[in-house]
This record gives sequence, C-alpha cells and structure tokens, in this order.
Amino acid sequence: MTQDNGRKPEYPVSDIFVNRWSPRAFAPVPVEAHKLHILFEAARWATSCYNDQPWYFVYGDNEQTLPKFRGLLVEPNRLWADKAPVLAVLFARKNFTFNGQANGWSEFDAGSAWMSLALQASELGLAAHGMAGFYQDKACEVLGVSAAEFKPMIALAIGYPGEPATLPEALQKIEAPNDRRSHSEMVRCL
Ligand SMILES: Cc1cc2nc3c(=O)[nH]c(=O)nc-3n(C[C@H](O)[C@H](O)[C@H](O)COP(=O)(O)O)c2cc1C
Repeated sequence: MTQDNGRKPEYPVSDIFVNRWSPRAFAPVPVEAHKLHILFEAARWATSCYNDQPWYFVYGDNEQTLPKFRGLLVEPNRLWADKAPVLAVLFARKNFTFNGQANGWSEFDAGSAWMSLALQASELGLAAHGMAGFYQDKACEVLGVSAAEFKPMIALAIGYPGEPATLPEALQKIEAPNDRRSHSEMVRCL
C-alpha cells in the first residue's frame, strides 16, 4: 500500500518504489536477526554480469562490532548514523571469479544488490540508508577484507525508522522523502 509520504509518481509504479526512502532517524531498537537475513537474501537475488554476484556485505549489530563501523563514517554521517542499530559496508569484488579478469561491472552489480536490500528493508518496515561518506581507504583494513580483492562501495545504516526529534535540528528539517527529476530529464525516445 502506498504510504502517504508526499511523493507523487508521474506514472502508477508499484508502491515499493515510492515508499522506500532514506531516513536518518532510527528507533533505539535492535533489528531481528531473521529480518537481517531476509535483507541479505534480497540482495542475493540481484542481477549481475555473468551471474558473478560480486557484492559482499560486512555488518555489525552489537556494541562489540558497531564501533568499528562508526569509526569509518565521516563526521556529518556520524551525527545520525551512530544511532543506527546495524551498520554495514558493501564491497564489490574487483575481478570475475570465473576467469580472474577485471570486472568492469562489479560496482554496477553491487548497486543492484544494494537496491534490492533497500527495497526489501522498506517492505519490512525497516529503513536502509546508503552512505558514500565513509573512509573508503580504511574500510578493508578495519573490517578484515582483502583490499586486493574488494573495493568498498558504500556504508549502510539499517534499522527501524525513529523519531525525527531525536536528530540534530538541521537534520530534522530535511527528514522527509524527497522528489525526483521529471521523465523529460531522464529518458528520451529516439
Ligand atoms: C551511493 C550513495 C551515497 C550516499 N551517501 C550519503 C551520505 O554519505 N550521507 C547521507 O546522509 N545520505 C547519503 N545517501 C542517501 C541519498 O542522499 C539519498 O538516497 C537520495 O537523496 C535519495 O533519497 P531517498 O533515498 O530518500 O529516496 C547516499 C545514497 C547513495 C545511493
């Protein structure tokens, strides 16, 4: 069902596309382990070049591991993402597994996996917020991932949406679903 979140699609797309958005306020409650597995399962079914599935997620959901992820975030993201009950980094495998050659589409494929996860999160009443604002150069070392094999793409904050009032004032003002450019700016029929 369409949430009344102010978004007005130009054409009648499935509700999942307009319902999903990227809040910054997270409720102070954990995400159930089985729901996290469902999110990663959704990512698992994304399309990929040669079905090589070059995405790789590393996540933390407890106070033993979350500080590692928090330390990777740039300060403006820490202002809100520090309160997320789950933080993750999505990596893209640089080379194809079937022949070892450079995979020029792995970042694209990782993006597909991210989108599947984000849509599934929204369907479950969760929110996933992607972040470019993290220390890409440190992520492999901090999270124990081979930098020769993987490129860190985005950090993710995952959790149940929370109260905007819990955010710093400047962020409260922008805590709402945003709009999109029109069709005329993004698609052309030749
Ligand atoms: C690759 C990528 C990087 C992003 N980086 C950040 C970020 O560092 N900080 C942030 O608050 N939001 C970040 N976002 C969230 C976007 O701002 C957001 O997806 C966009 O404004 C569209 O809004 P929506 O996701 O609510 O539809 C990022 C999103 C993506 C896909």
